[in-house]
Amino acid sequence: MQSEKKELARMENISIEFPGVKALDQVSFNVLEGEVHALVGENGAGKSTLIKVLMGVYTPSSGKLFVNGKEANYHTPAEAIAHGMGAVYQDITMATHLTVGENFFLGHLPTKGGRVDWNRIYKDAQATLDDLRIPIDARTPVRDLTIGQQEMVSIAKIIHQKANVLVFDEPTALLTNEEVEILFHLINDLKARGFGIIYISHRMEEIFELCDRVTILKNGLYIDTLNVADTNEQKLVQLMVGRSVDDMYGIEHTQPGEVMLEVNGLTGERFHDISFQVRRGEIFGMFGLIGAGRTEICRAIFGADPYTSGEVKIAGKPVHNKKPLDGINNSIAFLTEDRRKEGMCAVLSVERNVNLSSYPLISKHGLINLKKEAQRAIDYVERIRIKTPTIDYQCEHLSGGNQQKVVIARWMCCQSDIFIFDEPTVGVDVGAKVEIYKLIEDLLKQGKAIVLISSYLPEVMGLSDRLMVMYEGKQTGLIERSEFYNSEGKLNEEMVLGLASGIKAAEQEGA
Ligand SMILES: Nc1ncnc2c1ncn2[C@@H]1O[C@H](COP(=O)(O)OP(=O)(O)OP(=O)(O)O)[C@@H](O)[C@H]1O
Ligand SMILES: [Mg+2]
Repeated sequence: MQSEKKELARMENISIEFPGVKALDQVSFNVLEGEVHALVGENGAGKSTLIKVLMGVYTPSSGKLFVNGKEANYHTPAEAIAHGMGAVYQDITMATHLTVGENFFLGHLPTKGGRVDWNRIYKDAQATLDDLRIPIDARTPVRDLTIGQQEMVSIAKIIHQKANVLVFDEPTALLTNEEVEILFHLINDLKARGFGIIYISHRMEEIFELCDRVTILKNGLYIDTLNVADTNEQKLVQLMVGRSVDDMYGIEHTQPGEVMLEVNGLTGERFHDISFQVRRGEIFGMFGLIGAGRTEICRAIFGADPYTSGEVKIAGKPVHNKKPLDGINNSIAFLTEDRRKEGMCAVLSVERNVNLSSYPLISKHGLINLKKEAQRAIDYVERIRIKTPTIDYQCEHLSGGNQQKVVIARWMCCQSDIFIFDEPTVGVDVGAKVEIYKLIEDLLKQGKAIVLISSYLPEVMGLSDRLMVMYEGKQTGLIERSEFYNSEGKLNEEMVLGLASGIKAAEQEGA
């Protein structure tokens, strides 16, 4: 019975304001021992801010915190940790040049006789890893680990710091399917051991697979807390975005036109002998596990990285893009995966960022048409609902998902013929995902050729006309939309996952 479970932490009527934004308005939230409590809401709803209050990063202007039933007055991250709070943020903050063990003790290395006690560091760290059945050696440098493994290490680290409330802020966004499974196992194990877990995600099916209760925030307001067993995806989405989303991937596919992009035998450092064609009005999906080489291929086509052999043709004409500007001039728009680093300029305003790649289109004789510049920003803020007080707001103050939307708007403004979307909806809320798919649908109608890289199988299968599957730099399958479904009319995810993990390819070779 849930009511008998002990309450580990409670936040009561928390309010906090940033210049121009009421990020949280009287929000209450609690977490019990042995439960996974989901926190959901649109981009900018206040989820990360609420967590940062719990973690001592922000001090609220009003409201109270309780830990184990007692009021707690803490105002720094160190004090929050001392109260048993631990968080795994999406952009994992670890010193990658140091070992796993060193990261466990960062800032407080134990000493013995005036020297750093390395034995203890590695023994302790290894014991925690072993206890959680995480198969990683504490002496491994963090840079040698995959993102998924780094995430496991951060979990072990906060448990080693004696956290009993664990917060996960969008932990699966950068993980492979396999890593997600391992993470879920670990979270279930921690739940069984009595930890209280707070789980933030934009992937609705994860909420239903993993969580016991769910709290919905909207525009900084508390909406409701429900038992997951008593609700469904439709109801949840309705509460989050205020309307229902019946068929997320239900876009209208058009009759493809002539070939826009052609790649023949392209070979580079991390991919080998890749050939495909993308026609106007077609979505060409690329699926593979993280590291399969999809981004590398697109970077080579665009001109961001070199390739060693093979050929790229655009509208039938051979081209060799040697720098990104060549790619842009050859009519390619490339929405990079790592937008916070490559995709936008955080200190500039929303308006500037939206226009960043296409000023020539709204300039004459070197003069920018300021009215058009503003109008574009206003249009996109409305269309994909970028949550910002004004178009002059600095992008660095936007929530993660809203920064993402700004980058999408930026590339939409370029009138390119070929659009490459690399993981366009990571960190984006359900409502905005649908808006982004609508933008893609519009591009299709305009006869653009679209390449969609996604590690999220329902998305890439839901949208693509054709799908290329990759494994370790090689093309393992090229599937038509009509072949996506099995004999029962259901999406045949197993087939695609098989190709992406090299199983099918190996079987065929052996046969
Ligand atoms: N340091 C800050 N300075 C100014 N405004 C901020 C700051 N941090 C957050 N905000 C604003 O507070 C609101 C809530 O942001 P928050 O990051 O909590 O949203 P979120 O629910 O985590 O969204 P997402 O799903 O996109 O991660 C947003 O409008 C955001 O722009
Ligand atoms: Mg957030």
